[in-house]
Amino acid sequence: MVSRDRRITSVARSVRLVPTLRAASMFACALVLGACGGGVHGTPGGSGVRDPYFPKAGNDGYDVTHYGLRLAYDPGAEHLTGTATLTARAEKDLSAFNLDLVGMEVEQVTVGGEIARWNRAGQELTVRPRGDIDRDETFRVSVRYSGTPETVTDPDGSREGWLRTTDGVLALGEPTGSMAWFPGNHHPSDKAAYDIAVTVPKGLRAVSNGELRGERTARGRTTFVWHSGQPMASYLATLAIGRFDISRSRAGELPLYTAVDPAEAAASRPVLARIPEVLRWSERRFGPYPFSATGAIVDSAALVGYALETQTRPVFPGAPDLPLLVHEFAHQWYGDSVTPESWRDMWLNEGFATYAEWLWDEDHGGDSAQETFDAVYSGAHFDTEEAAKEIWEFPPADPPSAGQLSDPPVYWRGAMVLQKVRQVVGDDRFFAILRGWAAGHRHGNADTADFTAYVEQQAPGKDLEAVWDEWLYGEGKPERP
Ligand code: ARG
Ligand code: ZN
Repeated sequence: MVSRDRRITSVARSVRLVPTLRAASMFACALVLGACGGGVHGTPGGSGVRDPYFPKAGNDGYDVTHYGLRLAYDPGAEHLTGTATLTARAEKDLSAFNLDLVGMEVEQVTVGGEIARWNRAGQELTVRPRGDIDRDETFRVSVRYSGTPETVTDPDGSREGWLRTTDGVLALGEPTGSMAWFPGNHHPSDKAAYDIAVTVPKGLRAVSNGELRGERTARGRTTFVWHSGQPMASYLATLAIGRFDISRSRAGELPLYTAVDPAEAAASRPVLARIPEVLRWSERRFGPYPFSATGAIVDSAALVGYALETQTRPVFPGAPDLPLLVHEFAHQWYGDSVTPESWRDMWLNEGFATYAEWLWDEDHGGDSAQETFDAVYSGAHFDTEEAAKEIWEFPPADPPSAGQLSDPPVYWRGAMVLQKVRQVVGDDRFFAILRGWAAGHRHGNADTADFTAYVEQQAPGKDLEAVWDEWLYGEGKPERP
């Protein structure tokens, strides 16, 4: 039996979404408790999942298990047409639910094959199905949309979403750009499998995540079909359209597919040739590779000032160097497979991927991670005093604003936290922790408190209090390295 209080809150929330008549009858219904069997029982899902930095990102009330995207792009007209079909499970009785989508024109929405009503406000696309969806019910929502997707400017000034390149486009999504090219539950806490089919003019290629399941040309257009069987956060979905040199091979058992803009081919070749070696080393350090495909996308996109760890196939905006390749591959374990619960936990991505670079050096005759740590602490590692100071601006586990999620403290101090843990627990336990963390949350989500609890549990009797207090959560530069 639903408690009186909850019922009343539900009504209050419904009022904002449903026409007055229906609201009035629901209200009457709520007053005569129990007298409304079979009628309206659901309430609208929430418009966000209370992310500390992006309160409207993601939506409450359901969990997406699969995205089926059918897209067609005409680069000349810069026009995208799409149908996004999401399979989701209701987490409560729903009278309405939200999806996130910015820009684009919505043409039709169906739920369970039936036309549904919808309206838009900012990034919220509210869908009102004909009948309520029951808690635990699996439902399918399909959105037909079209237009020129937007380029999104991040709170830190960088660009994501839909980015034009010299010969096509590149879609990137960290932290919020994916909602520019498909509607969804755009928060890292809701991961799902994906099938992405993209049709482009013959001669161009469409490259996305996972395994290439099909490529067929008809009437001057080619459709590429990509499959991601393992769960993926929407910010890790990518799409690159343009002219690419393709290389298909294997890294061990894994299909390895790289797509390289011809302008970047010569500079990329030697470093991409090392992908199998980087994967072997990563597996030794971090445990089994979490996905069933691998590769890379190298585009010619100087305006995109960063690489991204897009799942199974990281994107580089130009030929990468080896440390960057190691960094983006480490993210496949830390970030892609073990995904932050909220954007506050970003250091669990960037601290680990940065530490992977230090570890690569240590294992290949370069500086040890401790030496790198010392040089970072003293400032000797940096070219300018400014850069040396920047890393102490805020604690890695608590960025002050959305514009600082990718700032140096998250990367450098995040990696330093790991070296501090290593100092306290010793090498054997530390490397077991790196692997155990990846294994324990494989294909899932985790937050900073999960990490500290896990480390403490793996290192009984070790005092980690000062590491958390000073290095992870503390303001300013810790007094002792
Ligand atoms: N996660 C990317 C990396 O591998 C960087 C993303 C930068 N994005 C941004 N909005 N600043 O480090
Ligand atoms: Zn990174």
